[in-house]
Amino acid sequence: MSLIEIKDLKVHYPIRTGFWNRITDSVRAVDGITFNIEAGETYGLVGESGSGKSTTGKSVVGLEKVTSGSIMYKGVDITKKANRTKLDYNQDVQMIFQDSLSSLNPRKRIEDIIAEPLRNFEHLSKDDEKLRVLQLLDIVGLDADALYKYPHQFSGGQRQRIGVARAVATNPKLIIADEPVSALDLSVQAQVLNFMKKIQREFGISYLFISHDLGVVRHMCNNIAIMNRGRLVEIGTREDIYNHPLHIYTKRLLAAIPETNVNQRAAHRASRLAVEKIYQEQQSKYYDENGEAFPLIQVSPTHAVALPENIAKQLASQEGEVQA
Ligand SMILES: Nc1ncnc2c1ncn2[C@@H]1O[C@H](COP(=O)(O)OP(=O)(O)OP(=O)(O)O)[C@@H](O)[C@H]1O
Ligand SMILES: [Mg+2]
Repeated sequence: MSLIEIKDLKVHYPIRTGFWNRITDSVRAVDGITFNIEAGETYGLVGESGSGKSTTGKSVVGLEKVTSGSIMYKGVDITKKANRTKLDYNQDVQMIFQDSLSSLNPRKRIEDIIAEPLRNFEHLSKDDEKLRVLQLLDIVGLDADALYKYPHQFSGGQRQRIGVARAVATNPKLIIADEPVSALDLSVQAQVLNFMKKIQREFGISYLFISHDLGVVRHMCNNIAIMNRGRLVEIGTREDIYNHPLHIYTKRLLAAIPETNVNQRAAHRASRLAVEKIYQEQQSKYYDENGEAFPLIQVSPTHAVALPENIAKQLASQEGEVQA
């Protein structure tokens, strides 16, 4: 059994219009996605802005009401609140948010911010609590004098580490990391990612790592799902996605990774423009008549792509992949 099994998950937001405020349509933020997260792994969920990544993440922590489908944890569907309570689910699954300034209460000191989940779930004495908070600060590389400061007194990278410390306070099994480093500059990104990896090794945590950038995900994730307008268009291992991408949307995200080698820039730009041209011109090959992604077809034991079966198999064999 996987740690988390997400099956045909849908989250639709109603659109109300007119005098009677009737529901006339819906935003299909998440529209039928299925994937599993294994214990101890980092699972990447990648897509452009608005593709439904945060809605998926919030559904997994129980912050979003789902329209249909299931999220199984220890054999129980946690989309139902009663089940989350019964399992102490909110202790086992925590979230790190993209925007640390708005997700950390500006009027609280760091000590209270990090201790908050402890106070909800573990009933420690004042001294033990302080000791635990100091330990957590140490794990993410912050000094003891951080205890009495407020969020605005820290840099973005430091605040993100405070978010990591708070998320690991309850010894969770899974952390949903929603764009945890997107607001940081490159050198600080690497620092925070290294802390996240170190904590993962020490505590055996799984991550659902959400990002719009395949460059960031590359060194973090074992398995990756590519999300496009509420659906998954490709799922695979790191090797499948980076070395044998099949869907044009995945290729487009790969082409968008900035090229750091100056000598390669011209070639990189040319290949990005070529991919963009195919994306614009071949919509009817990669999407159905309503412009939506096809159902996923398995092309190898680890790799699936949202294309009609014949096209999926043909592209996969061109890539030299083993057929399922
Ligand atoms: N509460 C809501 N009511 C109505 N529509 C919503 C709501 N929350 C999100 N949406 C819509 O659902 C879609 C998916 O949003 P979501 O925030 O999950 O995207 P995302 O992939 O996280 O994007 P980003 O990379 O910009 O964070 C968007 O079209 C968004 O406008
Ligand atoms: Mg988001």
